[in-house]
Amino acid sequence: MSRSPNGIGAAVTAVLLAFASPAAAERLNIGRAASPEEIKGWDIDVRPDGQGLPVGKGTAALGETIFQERCASCHGEFGEGAGRWPELAGGAGTLKSDSPVKTVGSYWPYVSTVFDFVHRAMPFGAAQTLTPDETYSLTAYLLYLNDILKDQDFEVNEKNLATIRLPNEKNFFMDDRETAEKEFWTAKPCMTDCLPKEATITGRARILDVTPDKASEKAKESPPVQ
Ligand code: HEC
Repeated sequence: MSRSPNGIGAAVTAVLLAFASPAAAERLNIGRAASPEEIKGWDIDVRPDGQGLPVGKGTAALGETIFQERCASCHGEFGEGAGRWPELAGGAGTLKSDSPVKTVGSYWPYVSTVFDFVHRAMPFGAAQTLTPDETYSLTAYLLYLNDILKDQDFEVNEKNLATIRLPNEKNFFMDDRETAEKEFWTAKPCMTDCLPKEATITGRARILDVTPDKASEKAKESPPVQ
């Protein structure tokens, strides 16, 4: 993942400016300039530092009621996931296991992503029908289900949401392979005589019994295509 907000931001701004200007729309003779209201409708991203959060507030206690009505049919009453729908709670300490359970609590890095995603995409099939206050309450309830908020009446709002930390945040960091694996990334790749000693054969597929011995057995196992 690239973390070059300035570069991307500049490119996006340039594109927006090019298309938002009425002159460009007229010159290309397609579409029309997006209205400020339309841009406002699209511009709903929320960043980890809280930038982009709408004014609003909510609590886990309020969120629980909304969750049971609008989310539990898929995600279960306690975020445990109904059937094969995604789990939203639990999974703490499972990330290094053979079957990691990745949830908002165990895996996600920032609370802003919870707000952004729920506001943008949920409930599945009726996206963007939640008000900011409902989204704050649902975010609080998801944090409460994951034991990140302990008080169900704690008010989450646009000022304090970004100050709440998720346990897995530290495991998301800038790609450091160029320094952490310096040798691997900067050494001139070996192209000849790279093995420290002569290669030796340590096993044969025939002995491991994965290759049929006789031609007849071979034919039996893979009948000719009709
Ligand atoms: C009709 C079923 C359905 C309903 C109702 C629903 N969701 Fe979802 N939810 C999904 C599906 C499917 C996904 C996975 C979407 C994807 O990966 O693109 C998902 C993903 C999520 C995720 C991300 C999970 C993860 O770790 O990737 C969150 C958070 C979430 N939903 C919250 C909610 C909330 C809050 C509500 C109620 C307002 C809600 N959902 C209602 C089906 C539903």
